[in-house]
Amino acid sequence: MAELIVSLDINNRKDIEKLIEMLGSSVEHYKIGPVPLLTFGTEIMEFLSNKKKKIFLDLKFFDIPNTVENAVYSACKLNPHLLTVHTLGGKNMLKAAISGRNRAGGDTKIIGVTLLTSFSQEDLENIGIKGNIDECILQLAEISFECGLDGIVCSARELEFLRKKFPSDFLMVCPGIRPGGNRFDDQKRSATVSQAVRNGADYLVIGRPIIESENPVAVVSQIKTEIKENEPKRENP
Ligand code: C5P
Repeated sequence: MAELIVSLDINNRKDIEKLIEMLGSSVEHYKIGPVPLLTFGTEIMEFLSNKKKKIFLDLKFFDIPNTVENAVYSACKLNPHLLTVHTLGGKNMLKAAISGRNRAGGDTKIIGVTLLTSFSQEDLENIGIKGNIDECILQLAEISFECGLDGIVCSARELEFLRKKFPSDFLMVCPGIRPGGNRFDDQKRSATVSQAVRNGADYLVIGRPIIESENPVAVVSQIKTEIKENEPKRENP
């Protein structure tokens, strides 16, 4: 079943602790990006694992292969469940990421960010990349698969064509989810919870609609109900 990951993009350590406490057992998986990592320090990893939470370490490494190999090695030593690298770093960098993970041991899944969900066709053209945004995403997904990554980050909208191209265990992690479909913030390729689940997302990453809500517990509960209601029926083997 698709799993909710709550993105802890909060600038204050006490508020991070308060939210995790408030959400209790209703959330089992948190995303740590630069905001909570720089606010809390790497001890946030221990803090969450002591509470038996899974961690998605979203640092989107994008550098020369040697630096990425070493960065992934150090990140995997912190034992996250998922770790991101940026696919625009190219094949040599992606292979280096896999080497870093293998050298560290453990079973962290390396996930390639294709194009940010805040990116549109126009943004792509603005940086001089010609061609269709979906084709670009497919190409980045293909090199991720070829280089041995465990999955990709993409918009739930793209799952319609991506799901058909890759085996079902190639993980699809989808941010840019907007539960009510009525606020978008800086996200440009967003989708609702039901769209994401029906299109076959493995993970739904949601930040502001939960962390900025007056009642995060109620929002999480609503999202989890929507996930359950829209889960595609799987045939028994
Ligand atoms: O607040 P919101 O729900 O938009 O948060 C989405 C989170 O997912 C942010 O932490 C953002 O950094 C991350 N993310 C994204 N798009 C990607 C990769 C990661 O929005 N392609």
